[in-house]
Amino acid sequence: MENIVEIEGLSKDYDVGFWRKRKVRALDDLSLNVKPGGIFGFLGGNGAGKTTTIKILMGLIFPTEGSAKILGSPIYDVKMRSRIGYCPENPYFYDYLTPLELLDYFGQLFGLDAAVRSSRSEQLLNAVGIEEIAWKRQLRKFSKGMQQRVGLAQALINEPEIVFLDEPMSGLDPVGRREIRELIAGLKAKGTSVFMSTHILSDVEALCDEVAILRKGKLFATGDLQELLSRDTGRRGFEVIASGLSPAAVAQIEALSKGAVVTGKPNGIAIEVENEESIEGILRTIRDNYGKLISVLPVKQSLEDLFIEKPDED
Ligand SMILES: Nc1ncnc2c1ncn2[C@@H]1O[C@H](COP(=O)(O)OP(=O)(O)OP(=O)(O)O)[C@@H](O)[C@H]1O
Ligand SMILES: [Mg+2]
Repeated sequence: MENIVEIEGLSKDYDVGFWRKRKVRALDDLSLNVKPGGIFGFLGGNGAGKTTTIKILMGLIFPTEGSAKILGSPIYDVKMRSRIGYCPENPYFYDYLTPLELLDYFGQLFGLDAAVRSSRSEQLLNAVGIEEIAWKRQLRKFSKGMQQRVGLAQALINEPEIVFLDEPMSGLDPVGRREIRELIAGLKAKGTSVFMSTHILSDVEALCDEVAILRKGKLFATGDLQELLSRDTGRRGFEVIASGLSPAAVAQIEALSKGAVVTGKPNGIAIEVENEESIEGILRTIRDNYGKLISVLPVKQSLEDLFIEKPDED
């Protein structure tokens, strides 16, 4: 299969206001393709339209314009739904069920027989890091992070070919995030495709193969993550980090290369150099002033640079 998700000209207007109704465009002419077998990061700041897109894909709300396909079938095809998984943003389940009962219920919806339901439920609860003593505890006693984990287990009960995760790391502490990160990486290793929305950039850098960045409902950039990051932005250079330099030595360095930008870092100072030729002179000055050279590294565009809207764009 060429693409596992195909989005074509999707727009969504929400009606807002009570007395005087008006429309707010949450999604504007989004077209996007996702290849199978990878982890696709769907990025954008608060209100960019990530959840709106995922809800349309899941058939929970209707688009104002456009269409989409998942696994080659239109999004309203019920048969296709049995082959996908979905964990909503901040999942919330019926308070008085236990995780085992909840997973069993979803397993029944997918027509799994009792033995499969029970073995899969146990295996998934282990995988998402819920201890056995909590398996028969009512969900109302679960923390936000625990609910998030149950949501992930629920999304995987039918062994989906592709799973849609809306902010899967929200509500998790750093340890929890790392565990879920590993779980998501494990899904990919098993051949499950993942479509996840997030604004946690370190998770994206650690996990995603391809990304799409939304800004105010519009597609801003999409493609291979590494390729997007190495794309020339016209402001690449080198960063020299050194410590133990006197203010006079720093001033000397600043005078040496007009393009150099010096910023303080906890471990010393960082000198940003535009061209390779100036590096030699800077290194000599550091040495002559008995400074300690810590590193010389090429400056790469970070995901944050891509993600954050510059005021001059728009
Ligand atoms: N039911 C609704 N009625 C009216 N406006 C809505 C509704 N749901 C979302 N919106 C608006 O649509 C826009 C996109 O919202 P959406 O929830 O898709 O963003 P998001 O990218 O998921 O943001 P977040 O990172 O905060 O979850 C926002 O401006 C939001 O206020
Ligand atoms: Mg959202």
